[in-house]
Parts: sequence; C-alpha cells; structure tokens
Amino acid sequence: MRSYRRLGELPRKRHMRIERGGRPVFEELFGREGFTGPSSLLYHLGMPEAAHDVVPGADDRAAMELEQVHTHAHLEAWRMQPEGDIVSGRGWLLVNDDVRVGVAVPERQQETLFVNGSADEVLFFHRGAATLHSQFGRLPIAEGDYLVIPRGTVHRIELAAPQATRVLVLECTGLVDSPERYRSRNGQLLEAAPYSERDIRAPEELEQADGPAEVMLKRGGRITRYCLDHHPFDVIGWDGTVYPCAFSIHDFEPRAGRFHVPPPTHQVFQAPGLVICNFVPRKIDWDPEAVALPYHHSNLDSDEVMYYCGGDYSARRGVREGSLTHHVGGVPHGPQPGALEAALTGARETSELAVMIDTFRPLHRTQAARQVLDTCYPYSWSASS
Ligand SMILES: [Fe+2]
Repeated sequence: MRSYRRLGELPRKRHMRIERGGRPVFEELFGREGFTGPSSLLYHLGMPEAAHDVVPGADDRAAMELEQVHTHAHLEAWRMQPEGDIVSGRGWLLVNDDVRVGVAVPERQQETLFVNGSADEVLFFHRGAATLHSQFGRLPIAEGDYLVIPRGTVHRIELAAPQATRVLVLECTGLVDSPERYRSRNGQLLEAAPYSERDIRAPEELEQADGPAEVMLKRGGRITRYCLDHHPFDVIGWDGTVYPCAFSIHDFEPRAGRFHVPPPTHQVFQAPGLVICNFVPRKIDWDPEAVALPYHHSNLDSDEVMYYCGGDYSARRGVREGSLTHHVGGVPHGPQPGALEAALTGARETSELAVMIDTFRPLHRTQAARQVLDTCYPYSWSASS
C-alpha cells in the first residue's frame, strides 16, 4: 500500500556515518519480518533505546462476556460514553487472536506518547479531525479518514476537539496493507484498483523535540512505561515503505453494477485473518428487474462486523449512525422484513457510509459489548417481532 517515501536529511548511502554538530547520528532500521520484509531507516540525534526507567503500567485486556451465545448482535455503540483519551478510552467490543474491534469516544487529549508493540492499528475517524505526531513527522487527519499506524510507531494523536471525536479502532495482529489483488507485480496499485497511491497520505513535516520522554509501550495487552533519555521525535530524516499513513473513505471510488455487487468488491484493506471493506454512496442495481438490496447470505467461514457511519442503510432496521452489527458465521442474515418491498420503488442509489470487517476466525463479544447490546436484534427477522 505504501510506496517509497523520504523526508528530511539522509546520508548518501545506507549505514554510512553522519554527524550533526560534531556528534554522531544514530540510524534505526524500522523493519518487518526481521531483516527481510518492508522497512524504513530513521536517523536520530539521540540513541533511540536509551532509557533510564522501565516500570509496569496498566493492563489493557478485553474482558470476555462469560456466556457466549452464537447469535447475531446489534451493539448500540453510539451509547458509549466519553472516557479517557484516544488510547486509554478504547472500549473493546469484539476480539479474536487476529483483531480487536472497539470504539474510542475520548473525553480528553492524549498527553503521554504511546506505541503499540504488537499490533498494527487502523483508526477510522467517524467524527472529528486530528493530527498524528510520530517519529515520522506530522500527519493531518480529517473526518472520514482511515489512519493506519504500523506497530512500533511512537505517537500522540492531537484531536481537534476531543469531545466531538468518535473513532472506530482496530488492532490487527498482522500487517495491514492494500489488497494483494489490487497490486501489480512491482507492488504498484493497479489501474483498476478503487484508489491509487495519490490517495495515500504520509507525514509531511518532521517533528522537532528533544529531552527525555515518557512512552507507554503496549505489547500483548500489557503496558510498560518507558522513560527515554531522548525524545523519539528527534529524527532528522527517514526513508522507506513503513510509516503511518492516511486514506479518506471519500477517496474510495465506488463500485456499482446492473445487479448487486458483492462486498469483496468494496474491499479497502487486508490483514492476516481479516478483510476491511467500505460501503460509500453510489448508484446500485439499476436493471429494472434487479433486487436493489443485498441478498440473504450465510458466511460459512467468517464473522461479519459492520460499523454504520452515515447515510441511510435501507436493509437494516433499528441500526443508526454509530451502531455496530455482528453477524456470526454459519447463520444466514440479510435484509429485514419490509426492506424488499421498499426497495421495489426506492431510488437506485444509496447514501450509506459504512465500514465492514470480515474475520476468518470467530469473534468473541466482550463484557463492554454486553453493556450496549440490543437484545431484540436476533429476532428482528421474525414475523412475530
Ligand atoms: Fe452481510
């Protein structure tokens, strides 16, 4: 997904000695898959691992709901109340070994730097704007943006207005990338892909910070507090293909057809164990005999999560902006009663805006999900409901 970028001052060759003010500059490899995967090289004024205090911090574990019933669920996530900051206030709702899905409704700014040591993060800014500050520089974020943060990125997210912010948060165990089928042999996004490299935004300007810094490092649900000798934003230059980036849902070119187009057509990202799709305003199913609705489907090998973030979602009753549905694998789901009749005379276009996550392993609902569970939803297809 990320093409090669460079920012700031770099030596002519890799692993070459450079100095600033008579002092050595420290080169850091920021690499995936050991030394064999995608990577970036960063050049620090201070030694990046120098720390003078390392102590345990709080846990960030997602407590499971004790009695799991295998049924579809509607989570009224719009009822979640402001809590903590954009990191500490994340309410995890659905989890498995590949991904955690939650919603952050912060009540205050993040003050302490944070680094996720074991997951790539995807933050979808449903409401609010922000600026990502990291060792890669500043990256402005607008409403409707996905912010993809690779593990190891030390960062602080400065919100434009904390209490007007609502973010869908995914923590992915594996590498988040563009779908492989969108890429050519040399990694470039294909002409037929629904977005291009021009739509992917990277940090624009380096940060300037020095002195000691406090960083909360999360690894496997445990947080460790590091007091570093040198601020991690002391980078004078970097280059490579691993860096945080942003992509607006509004830059996704919609895909439409004469008859219903299935969800994989709307895929935006991939990660091991899951796919991320988005549904954006578009023309739909314009053949006079087409059913202008999704068909009933059994996802035999996946769980399906849908986060509703705008427009009208005509196939689903009771959901609203900020709702999240969880359709479990092995049980069919589809439009609810009345939707088919309404679609006969409805417009052949939709204003829906939604993010979908399909996981290949079952998701477990958390105790936090229980707090916002619509208990009537599993019966919403029944004539007696
Ligand atoms: Fe579905």
